[in-house]
Amino acid sequence: MSRARGPVLVSYYRGYLVPYVPTPEPVVKAMLELANAGPEDVVYDLGCGDGRIVITAAKEFKVKKAIGIEIRDDLVLQARRKIDELRLNDRAEIIKDDMFNVNIKDATIVTLFLLTSVNEMLRPKLENELRPGTRIVSHEFQIFQIPGWRPKKTVKIYDGIVGHTLYLYVIKKEVKELRAGASSRTPTPHSKILFLKENT
Ligand SMILES: C[S@@+](CC[C@H](N)C(=O)[O-])C[C@H]1O[C@@H](n2cnc3c(N)ncnc32)[C@H](O)[C@@H]1O
Repeated sequence: MSRARGPVLVSYYRGYLVPYVPTPEPVVKAMLELANAGPEDVVYDLGCGDGRIVITAAKEFKVKKAIGIEIRDDLVLQARRKIDELRLNDRAEIIKDDMFNVNIKDATIVTLFLLTSVNEMLRPKLENELRPGTRIVSHEFQIFQIPGWRPKKTVKIYDGIVGHTLYLYVIKKEVKELRAGASSRTPTPHSKILFLKENT
């Protein structure tokens, strides 16, 4: 019996959502420059890998605090070891957890190198927790273009081997109001977000 052709529903769950692919160092710098990172900032890198964005933010951009959240034990250890070596412990920290479990309300900058689907899962969290004015820089993957979520700036950068696209978003008051307006509807927990995939 042949199966009916048409869309099938694919759900995404918490846990390990994105493979580890490090952002090249020149792109790390470009991300922090695009966010205009400086001594007043609290930077979160969601899925921080070996901690390179956190470390560069603390060491070179002298931010007040840089926090990485990472689910993989080996990468957490690697990042913490490097932070120790560089004696950055007073301003750099790695939290071993699922990024969805950690409240990031004190962020002034959030960096992402995830996937468009994961950015979309994160959107309600970003809208709920972040304050107006918070900058979000996403390496390569956009946050879905819905009202209030157009990138303020898009930058192309070449790392010597391949090109990269960076998107800068700034949380606006209207985004929070949009979210508040939507709260009368039942919010979709990210673990229940469903994506349509065409049958082949
Ligand atoms: C593409 S890498 C980016 C690493 C780093 N941010 C960078 O730009 O170099 C994505 C990272 O997210 C981590 N990750 C995947 N799912 C996660 C989750 N649910 N919570 C925290 N980290 C996660 C992966 O282990 C991986 O290190």
